[in-house]
Amino acid sequence: MLNPDVILFVGDLGDGDLRTVKAINKISIPTAVILGNHDRGNDNSGVQLRSQISLLGEKDCSWRLCKWQNPLVSVVGARPCSAGGGYFLSQQMKAAFGHISLDESVRRIVNAANVASEELPLIILAHSGPTGLGSEASSICGRDWKVPSIDWGDKDLEISITQIQKVRKVDLVVFGHMHHELKRGRGTRQTFYHDLRRRTAYLNAACVPRRGIDALGDELCHFSWVEFSNRELIHASHRWYKNDSSIAFQETLFDKN
Ligand SMILES: [Fe+2]
Repeated sequence: MLNPDVILFVGDLGDGDLRTVKAINKISIPTAVILGNHDRGNDNSGVQLRSQISLLGEKDCSWRLCKWQNPLVSVVGARPCSAGGGYFLSQQMKAAFGHISLDESVRRIVNAANVASEELPLIILAHSGPTGLGSEASSICGRDWKVPSIDWGDKDLEISITQIQKVRKVDLVVFGHMHHELKRGRGTRQTFYHDLRRRTAYLNAACVPRRGIDALGDELCHFSWVEFSNRELIHASHRWYKNDSSIAFQETLFDKN
């Protein structure tokens, strides 16, 4: 069994289809979900989006600190349903949340981090990563589908992280959206960056597709895996598991030992 202490979902669960959300709801391990741009639903009324948020209940961490009984980490959600590219609110987002400005989004993220325990590692969970991590196609949040390649991160997230770092450490920022495999056969994306000065790690978990079959015909499923010890990040990797929960392949991104 994988048996993680916490499970984080980086979004793009199913284009408004509720089956994945309902499956996530059955997980008894502490779970945090941030919805992605593909979870906005096809209706401009925001009804599909609101129904997913409602179904997720406490597991949805949009702009808030997750509340678990005995948390081992603090998880703060960023702006949900982001498609990257600085700051943009879709019609569905406006319908579900109102006209949230960039400044308001920053205020919500920072306020959520402010009430997180100082004793626990702080993880920020986002659908798109922040700006400021490079503008190459292969950068961790770089635009690869259109020339020129530019930084396609979220501006409100970068500003939030910078503000939080003035008062405490942000241990890890986890996000998805920007697929690992680059368009036009240009290879793969950088998926991990460690800001050693501020001791903040950034992890892009968007392995697409997450399920596949290896050369022997075994089904594999990808998870990004992170471990903390004594409030310090000690390990980060991409892992492909077999159906029997054994690791078929591991790409180690960081290992303190
Ligand atoms: Fe996405």
